[in-house]
Amino acid sequence: MTKNKICFNLVRMSESLNVREILEWYLTAGVDETCGDVPFALQKDIQPQKIAPMPVAQSSAPTIEQKTNDAPRLATTELAQATVSACQNARELCSKAETISALKELVEGFDGCALKLTANKTVFGYGNEHAKLLLIGEAPGADEDRSGIPFVGRSGQLLEKMLAAVGIKRDECFITNILPWRPPGNRTPTEGEVAVCLPFLKRQIDLVNPEIIMILGGSAANALLDNAEPISKLRGKWLEYKTSDGKKIPVLASFHPAYLLRNSGQKAKAWADMLRMKQKLCNI
Ligand code: URA
Repeated sequence: MTKNKICFNLVRMSESLNVREILEWYLTAGVDETCGDVPFALQKDIQPQKIAPMPVAQSSAPTIEQKTNDAPRLATTELAQATVSACQNARELCSKAETISALKELVEGFDGCALKLTANKTVFGYGNEHAKLLLIGEAPGADEDRSGIPFVGRSGQLLEKMLAAVGIKRDECFITNILPWRPPGNRTPTEGEVAVCLPFLKRQIDLVNPEIIMILGGSAANALLDNAEPISKLRGKWLEYKTSDGKKIPVLASFHPAYLLRNSGQKAKAWADMLRMKQKLCNI
């Protein structure tokens, strides 16, 4: 949601809801930062004080007209079509990028994913473009959204420590995410959002051409490996990712650092995964 729309809605909603209800509504919608103390319109033609109050719903029971309304189905079809064409557009754009910096520029200019509207920055992959090890997370969080660099918040700090413990410096690796834009409020990305952004990740893999891929977390593993297995089943064993030109890259999935911050009892398994990854790297 753009900032002017937030202010616009706040004026309308404040006519019928109390402050607590309004804030709860925003949190549910994924808004977790304010941009000022008073509403303001970024667009000159929007004048908050002149907006009519939102009509209060008379009854929550669906009317016959609502029941037979085809609008939601049409909207869903349109959304699905838009997603398919955005995926195709992303794939075509990606194939034109011959370097990581060209791809970064393409992703920054891409408008086919609505997550970009609510994000502050595009968080593209970062690090050594010739790395042997490529790490993939799910999506930027608030810190990454502010800085434009993946894994710089608490999860990133833990990841950096884990890599250091097996003798790997962060800047030796290339670190990226399934999504280059933060989902509002860190919500789980939709299948459509993942599908639209996946070509960007796959092209990063092609261009970096790593020897090993380490995936952090179940959602990232499911997205790249195109399966629905829980991370508890996927982690700890060598899997494979096949690039568009048929190269097979060994993949190791492990727990996401954010999960480890909440479940320190799982750190031993994550540590075993780090050692497994390091051993393979040494044998290449
Ligand atoms: N979590 C992720 O999956 N990626 C980041 O960049 C930061 C947190």
